[in-house]
Amino acid sequence: MPALTSLPAYQALAAHAETARHWQLRDLFAQDPQRFEHMHLQAAGLFLDYSKNRLDAETLRLLLALAEARDLASWRNAMLTGARINHTEQRAVLHTALRLPRGTRLEVDGEDVVAQVHGVLEHMKRFSDEVRNGAWRGHTDQEITDVVNIGIGGSDLGPKMACLALRHYAHPRLRMHFVSNVDGHDIEAVLQQLNPETTLFIVASKTFTTAETMMNAQTARSWFIQQCGAFADLSRHFVAVSTNTAAVKAFGIDPANMFPFWDWVGGRYSLWSAIGLPIALSVGFAYFSDLLAGAHAMDHHFATAPLAQNMPVLLGLIGFWNRQFLGCSSLSIAPYHQDLNRFPAYLQQLDMESNGKRVTRDGSPVDTPTCPVIWGECGTNGQHAYFQLLHQGSDLIPIDFIASLQPAHERQRHHTALLANCFAQSEAFMKGKTADEARAELEAAGLDAAEVARLLPHKVFPGNRPSNTILMDYLTPPALGALIALYEHKTFVQGVLWDVNSFDQWGVELGKVLAKAIEAELSGDAHPALHDSSTNGLVQLAKRGLP
Ligand code: F6P
Repeated sequence: MPALTSLPAYQALAAHAETARHWQLRDLFAQDPQRFEHMHLQAAGLFLDYSKNRLDAETLRLLLALAEARDLASWRNAMLTGARINHTEQRAVLHTALRLPRGTRLEVDGEDVVAQVHGVLEHMKRFSDEVRNGAWRGHTDQEITDVVNIGIGGSDLGPKMACLALRHYAHPRLRMHFVSNVDGHDIEAVLQQLNPETTLFIVASKTFTTAETMMNAQTARSWFIQQCGAFADLSRHFVAVSTNTAAVKAFGIDPANMFPFWDWVGGRYSLWSAIGLPIALSVGFAYFSDLLAGAHAMDHHFATAPLAQNMPVLLGLIGFWNRQFLGCSSLSIAPYHQDLNRFPAYLQQLDMESNGKRVTRDGSPVDTPTCPVIWGECGTNGQHAYFQLLHQGSDLIPIDFIASLQPAHERQRHHTALLANCFAQSEAFMKGKTADEARAELEAAGLDAAEVARLLPHKVFPGNRPSNTILMDYLTPPALGALIALYEHKTFVQGVLWDVNSFDQWGVELGKVLAKAIEAELSGDAHPALHDSSTNGLVQLAKRGLP
């Protein structure tokens, strides 16, 4: 694949950017009073307003030409049909198959994966129904009251984010807990709240070798046996979600209580698989199916809509424009919905583990910056923390606003205030406040000329900050499914433009290996190795305490 910057389509964009980067959003809105009409899109129950971005129709035309030069449609079709596009691991990338309706067919290596997927979904349905209706009981014949998911990364972030997002649909008897960190404070805080006789542990790990998850699972198993006595009783209290049957058995979990998935499901794309079991337990299988259906509706849109009217494609292209040509090194996610509190953390793994890469698929260096840093916090809380920097700081940071038009509560005043803040922020980021406007305000407040001059520079907002606004009616299971799938496909689109493999994650390996060696040194099982002086010094401090 030719280097990105060598492509005529890229060079045309770079030439266009020479003038476009000086445009002011205020001017773009003044020049086209219908800008909002021209720059919004609706798909799968979501509405995207992308008019507050520093681009015009020509910018979009050039971005779409680049997408074509990069063969985006063919890559998309390759992914959707099970080609092994994760080439460093020789795997297909088929999270979209997890949400294909029953009865459709998709073959990988001669096997219909949709039939396999629905076989596991059936098992999830049976099991979640039984736990929810009280038929599945602990070893002392009591109903389950607490579900603890033990997993990390993709085996934690998705289910945790979705259970919180859909908490209004949750079963009233089932308290959901998530333990991910190897830090013992994490599991300790959860165990303290539990009665082992009414607790169900889900050990969730694609590989069933991840150090943090295995340590937490062993701790939970010892705690359970200590409290309840018998290993045999584990079968009513421990289930596993994994691709590694042998390791699940070796851990002591009955394979009948194992929910499998497949190597073609990436960890950060796995909440649609059995990794979503906590979601099905919490909200029930019917709503879990609705979540899948919402994602499938977005998949269908992504697969069939022309690129120019394709929501994930546009979101990806706009993000690419901001990153490559406006120099934005981060993207802030601002959900104006408290139940989407964990969505920014979820997107961090999705986007940064996927596109935080510096070599192309053939191993050559990418000749431009790649994935921006993804971060964020719910509005309005973020407004009272870091929005200052977004408004008046020296970096240009685009924002994705996400909101539901209707709340899941009846406190309408709160919701009106929330939406007012959301829309006001995007307006303020776009317009800013000019020196003339700031001066007029200061003078109207009765300040004398010297005071006006002193305060004026501090009161100016440069504005011209790009943002997207994504709206849904209510935060329902299908709307959430569509929202997650939108960002999955946006990530894919950008990976194609940069020509990186968005589906491996070799960058997490080095730290894991070094941690193993240091852990052995800390626990006295190995002689201290010769590290650098800082690492040696830290190891010594951990062994001997602070001087
Ligand atoms: O270390 C990174 C990672 O491999 C993620 O990609 C993955 O989601 C997470 O660890 C957990 O992996 P597993 O499900 O195999 O325990």
